[in-house]
Amino acid sequence: MQISIIGAGYVGLVSAGCFAKLGDEVICADINEQKINQITQGNVPIYEPGLEELIKEGIEKERLKFTSDISEAIKHGDVIFTCVGTPSNSDGSADISAVLSVAEHFADIKRSISKYKVLVLKSTVPPGTARTCYKIIKSKNVKAFGIVSNPEFLKEGSAIQDFMKPDRIIVGSPSKKARKKVIEAYHGVLRIYVPIIETENWETAELIKYANNAFLATKISFINEMANIAEQFNADIETIAAAIGLDYRINPRFLHPGVGFGGSCLPKDLRAIIKRAEQRGYQASFLREVLETNERQKKHIVEKIKQVYGSLQGKVFAILGLSFKPKTDDMREAPSIIIINELLALGARIKAYDPKAIPNAKKIFKNKIEYCSSIDKAITGSNGIIIVTEWDEFRDIDYSKFVDKVADRRIFDGRNIYDPKQIKRQGFKYYGIGRA
Ligand SMILES: NC(=O)c1ccc[n+]([C@@H]2O[C@H](COP(=O)([O-])OP(=O)(O)OC[C@H]3O[C@@H](n4cnc5c(N)ncnc54)[C@H](O)[C@@H]3O)[C@@H](O)[C@H]2O)c1
Repeated sequence: MQISIIGAGYVGLVSAGCFAKLGDEVICADINEQKINQITQGNVPIYEPGLEELIKEGIEKERLKFTSDISEAIKHGDVIFTCVGTPSNSDGSADISAVLSVAEHFADIKRSISKYKVLVLKSTVPPGTARTCYKIIKSKNVKAFGIVSNPEFLKEGSAIQDFMKPDRIIVGSPSKKARKKVIEAYHGVLRIYVPIIETENWETAELIKYANNAFLATKISFINEMANIAEQFNADIETIAAAIGLDYRINPRFLHPGVGFGGSCLPKDLRAIIKRAEQRGYQASFLREVLETNERQKKHIVEKIKQVYGSLQGKVFAILGLSFKPKTDDMREAPSIIIINELLALGARIKAYDPKAIPNAKKIFKNKIEYCSSIDKAITGSNGIIIVTEWDEFRDIDYSKFVDKVADRRIFDGRNIYDPKQIKRQGFKYYGIGRA
């Protein structure tokens, strides 16, 4: 099938690469010309395991083309997936201007094309957005088109696998013809069994995405709250989480206490749905508390560090992990930002190491912190080590070799990746989240 992808970010590039891999003829367009030039030369501007190879393969097999000409992409696709960003406005609402601009553009091009085309909203958009797009296009007297809400659920770090083997595909539209066309576009993915949730209601489909992310965020804030309570009693949250996770109604996933959630989706989507509900006169106070619990959690580890050292003036901290989660270079709303800024404000110095996110971190912290090219360089000479992101390579560090290379032997494990007893045996004091 002829497929177009608008927006060459994490979702757009993965979708484009995967559809090409599955045999479709794909054009991926982005307004950022520099980005398109870079990708065309084989340099994928983001880190996602397997993505660069996938994109190169698509280009080589001539099934994947990149362009900064949005009109070309709209002309090409039978199905056009909108994967543009929907960042937060300053009031927390979702900025859907890029989505609306794609809808306008679609209308202008489609007016002179008689062939049936479907515009698919894969970007996360508040309920009502598909309806607004439909009205925009209809008002321009466009015929033979459909609008489908098809929110994406891929996770950075395992995005290709998630796209190829999704838990389910959501297809929302009052038009049966449009829904059928989108299901047809997923023919390659559907070679294995994937449940399809079809709904005639755009808003239901749009809200599924927000409900999903709000629930995941709730699980994280819940277990963080329980971890903080466990600290008051010298109880062990890891045992508690393992035990409650065995209840099939709860399940063990997303029950990992830590320094809070970040990234480009959970905080932004929570803010957006809270705001959207508020615009309709409903105060989503429970979801607001989930978000506030998370903001407090990012600072919780700093409080713990303050309690241990008293003054942090001149103290040096090795930060291991900067990206909001492992296997990505994405720094959007990463807890490391809050933690580092709080420590800097208290007079501490930071030496940071991350396997992939340092180029993006430099755009945020500039010369306020020292960037290290290895774990060893970050740790040596520090007063404390703080695990902020649980990259695999941090799991088996032998701390005993640093005993004489650090000013203070203390590890603050913001992701509970270590066995406290083992760290103690290696000569360091251990401070986890919700652990005795
Ligand atoms: N990143 C994720 O893990 C993830 C997962 C599921 C859903 N989503 C949602 O998918 C959407 C995209 O997320 P992302 O992380 O890929 O964003 P991103 O910021 O990585 O990429 C967005 C791209 O859209 C381009 N763009 C902006 N306006 C445009 C326009 N008018 N025309 C063409 N291109 C335009 C930008 O230049 C950028 O390259 C968001 O709504 C997000 O919430 C993201």
